[in-house]
Amino acid sequence: MVNEKKVAIVGCGFVGSSSAFALMQSGLFSEMVLIDVDKNRAEGEALDIAHGMTFAEPMKIYAGDYSDVADAAMIVVTAGAAQKPGETRLDLVNKNVNIFKSIIPEIKKSGFDGILLIVSNPVDVLTYAAIKMSGLPEGHVIGSGTVLDTGRLQQMLGAHVEVDPRDVQAYVMGEHGDSEFVAWSSAQVAGVPLNTFCELHGHLEHEAAEKRIAEDVKNSAYTIIEKKHATYYGVAMAVKRICTAVMRDEQTVLPVSSLMVGEYGLSDLAISMPTVVGRDGVVCRVPVPLNDDEQHELTASAKALKDIIDSVDFSC
Ligand SMILES: NC(=O)c1ccc[n+]([C@@H]2O[C@H](COP(=O)([O-])OP(=O)(O)OC[C@H]3O[C@@H](n4cnc5c(N)ncnc54)[C@H](O)[C@@H]3O)[C@@H](O)[C@H]2O)c1
Repeated sequence: MVNEKKVAIVGCGFVGSSSAFALMQSGLFSEMVLIDVDKNRAEGEALDIAHGMTFAEPMKIYAGDYSDVADAAMIVVTAGAAQKPGETRLDLVNKNVNIFKSIIPEIKKSGFDGILLIVSNPVDVLTYAAIKMSGLPEGHVIGSGTVLDTGRLQQMLGAHVEVDPRDVQAYVMGEHGDSEFVAWSSAQVAGVPLNTFCELHGHLEHEAAEKRIAEDVKNSAYTIIEKKHATYYGVAMAVKRICTAVMRDEQTVLPVSSLMVGEYGLSDLAISMPTVVGRDGVVCRVPVPLNDDEQHELTASAKALKDIIDSVDFSC
């Protein structure tokens, strides 16, 4: 039986431990098991995070193994080799698909029947890998996709137009990576089209501003990695946001990565588009209207991913 208050995190490096720290403070779960191929690392993180628990909400936090995940409501997978300076997310593909071949079959063997959240990169390819390897219903496997990129976009746009970033509705879609794009034609602030809102505030030259902000969003990970070797706080908050949408059955629209079944003419790949997320994972996808340029960018992004998927052996 699923324990609605239990989460497991596989991979306790920068991203896994930061996500565990964010989840410990969230009050969403009362039991959290940390798993890593480096058992010492998992034990150290479990102790350290547990020592902060008395200042948040009481819960059970421990290092464990795959025998502990069977009844978890959610598993967050952040295991894998991290992106090195100058390395694209897609360079990581073969390394991390092989790591997944040692993780996902163990999760399957345990009888896990919850929602599997994939965060490791390249996240779209690994989400597809997890769907293929886990045997779970496809909607129960979610990639963090462009949730982080969209958060970065909202933060930068909010600063640009001087409003609370949460009042900016704009999505990064496509691959979480170099071929991602911003769906500018549907971007709004409080229901007002973004360009109209900008003009009201004296921000003109929309095209130049859009180009600069989209590039800054896309290059965020490279910029941060160059300066501090890894990115983890932003993604940890994205993990907490997705877990909240699932565990509270919020039906929140988030641009997670999931298996396409004909949306925008795409199928048999995982990619990000606005998606209603609830206790069953993917509830439905929201096909926001795209203009011709955006449709072209989505098709190109999907092709880049499909070429990789077609070159990888997912059998295990
Ligand atoms: N989706 C996103 O938005 C996003 C953002 C940042 C980072 N990431 C990705 O998250 C992943 C982790 O990044 P990080 O900075 O935490 O890396 P890290 O090297 O700090 O941590 C990776 C952890 O995975 C563990 N691991 C490796 N193989 C394993 C296995 N077979 N089973 C269990 N654990 C295993 C390692 O021991 C290590 O503790 C990377 O793929 C990175 O690119 C994704």
